[in-house]
Amino acid sequence: MDAEALNERWRRNLESWAIPPEILAKAPVDPWGHSPTRFAARTDRALAEPGGPTLDRVAEALPEGGTLLDVGSGPGAASLPLADRIGELIAVDTSAAMLGELTVRADKAGVRVTTVEGRWPQVAEEAGTADVVVAAHVVYNVPDLAVFLRALDAHATRRVVVELPHRHPMSWMSPLWEHFHGIRRPVRPIAEDAVALAAALGFEVRVEEREAPVERFDTIEELAASVCHRACLEPSRAEEVAETAMSMGMWPVPRDRWVTLWWNRRAT
Ligand SMILES: C[S@@+](CC[C@H](N)C(=O)[O-])C[C@H]1O[C@@H](n2cnc3c(N)ncnc32)[C@H](O)[C@@H]1O
Repeated sequence: MDAEALNERWRRNLESWAIPPEILAKAPVDPWGHSPTRFAARTDRALAEPGGPTLDRVAEALPEGGTLLDVGSGPGAASLPLADRIGELIAVDTSAAMLGELTVRADKAGVRVTTVEGRWPQVAEEAGTADVVVAAHVVYNVPDLAVFLRALDAHATRRVVVELPHRHPMSWMSPLWEHFHGIRRPVRPIAEDAVALAAALGFEVRVEEREAPVERFDTIEELAASVCHRACLEPSRAEEVAETAMSMGMWPVPRDRWVTLWWNRRAT
């Protein structure tokens, strides 16, 4: 398959995750929204215990005092642990609240930061160019992945690093969707689909995989609250969700596999 066909397959598979309108209409809150508090906690863990292939591959290519562009930065889990090396951090995110969490942490770490609020690649020109570009846990939100990846490449002078879970981040709760709504959730796209597309675009992609460094949830109550949010259920059903997840053997939730793909920028 060529890049165009792989991109189209990615787009269609992602579209198949759309929540049926009759279920969405009953959602008490936006089921796709990301919580800045949750991602801030994850960032603080990454700051306390930095490591893993994504940070290693970024650090390896980032010159001392270099510029790092973090696309879909959230509060900075994929960039701020490298505070000592970063001369300037450019953080792009659609969410002002996420960028606010990042700015607090960048100030504390003494990192000079420029934030760009908006959607990649639409705001790519505003963000500018960097030695290394990283985008972690963003691509399952991106229907036109080819344009997204090409823009990452065009804005890096040395390397692009992308991190994503092996399967769609909502995959783990598919049995609960079937239980509560009677519908089967899709399986694809998966990380291999992103790798295949990046390779078809002509990037010399390399891949590493590891177990996620963090539990998905620390408590069953957290799991239940998340399922209510993501599966469009009233928060009052949290206890029922927790009991169901227990009875289906879904607790504790196994850790995800996280995939890092990266390529060096071709000399132009
Ligand atoms: C799952 S969070 C990951 C945050 C962080 N990179 C991490 O690894 O913890 C995804 C973030 O990407 C942002 N986002 C999603 N699509 C985006 C896009 N096309 N351009 C910029 N930000 C995006 C969301 O607002 C959110 O903050």
